[in-house]
Amino acid sequence: PVTALKGQYPHFMLKEIHEQPEAIADTIWSLATLDPPALYFDDLGPAAERLASIERVVLIGMGTSLHAAMIGQRYIEAFARVPAWSDNASEFRYRDPVLDDRTLVISVSQSGETVDVLEAMAVARQAGALQITICNTEGAQTTRVADGTVYTRAGLERGVASTKCFTAAVVALYLLALRIAQAKGRLSQGDLAAHLAELAHLPRAVAGIIAQRDAFRKNALRHAQAQHVLFLGRGLAFPVAMEGALKLKEVSYIHAEGYAAGEMKHGPIALIEPAFPTIAIATRHALRAKMVSNIEQIQARGGPVTGIVTEGDAELASLCDAVIAVPAVSSWLEPVAAVIPLQLLAYDVAVHRGCDVDQPRNLAKTVTVE
Ligand code: G6P
Repeated sequence: PVTALKGQYPHFMLKEIHEQPEAIADTIWSLATLDPPALYFDDLGPAAERLASIERVVLIGMGTSLHAAMIGQRYIEAFARVPAWSDNASEFRYRDPVLDDRTLVISVSQSGETVDVLEAMAVARQAGALQITICNTEGAQTTRVADGTVYTRAGLERGVASTKCFTAAVVALYLLALRIAQAKGRLSQGDLAAHLAELAHLPRAVAGIIAQRDAFRKNALRHAQAQHVLFLGRGLAFPVAMEGALKLKEVSYIHAEGYAAGEMKHGPIALIEPAFPTIAIATRHALRAKMVSNIEQIQARGGPVTGIVTEGDAELASLCDAVIAVPAVSSWLEPVAAVIPLQLLAYDVAVHRGCDVDQPRNLAKTVTVE
């Protein structure tokens, strides 16, 4: 029966990577319409009315969901101009955070059952904070605790390494950020229409990226023998670098680090040598010019660099040792485009190394005990 569920795919992880165009589209169009341009958050409950009075936002999660939260933080700051932070739920729950009824806590959890997220939500509840959860599982515990829920529509995810739930959570957070901006009177109808038009292109762009898997694989396998890999990004690409590193270590057992590229000179650059490859996320909006100088500094120390770049970027194609090119999408959606080749890279490297990608050693899909 498990083989039947995988269909044409050898692993759930690969199947779920391929399901992303549909997961993203289903999530977007369960929360919005293009004509007329409108947002529909049916499950926000009492949270809907309190959004206008929110003065700050804290986003919490663990693992891949934390990386989605880090991207959501940047959307909320940019669109709603409300101060926003993201935090690891296991840290948040123990540090007596300053919260009140004008704080919105957004928890991100695919399963809705992760113990640290639930305990962090209990802390937020005690302090009277408003809570919204982003969840992929109907009726999960987080949805019962939160004041309101935003469901992602990715379908059941079985691979321990989360893929489709990450990109679905990112688009859900994008739309929630617009909804908060609307409640704050900071979103015109014209801007909403423009955002929704950009989102409407995304599923097709993602399908186009996944279709290039065979072309990407050669570059991916350059990393199959590496002992360590560094992932670098800036701005919205920083959480993507963290996610790329997490995917690789989860399924291939290669040591990987995701770093904000501006930190390079504060330590990681000491590691650079020919046997230490770097993957630099340098798509056109990801503070590309700054990334170019990071790439040059790494190469000057003999480190090989694979760039995740925007199609047609001839300068980076000649500068990097190898590039993986993704189509141009709006600046806000670049994290979704850039993460797909990193998911495929982790998958292909892991399979090449003979690892069990769907059930990596020592890992559980949902961590329900501390
Ligand atoms: C585990 C899984 C990860 C997941 C994390 C958070 O570590 O292996 O893939 O990102 O839990 O899970 P959640 O269900 O809260 O998103």
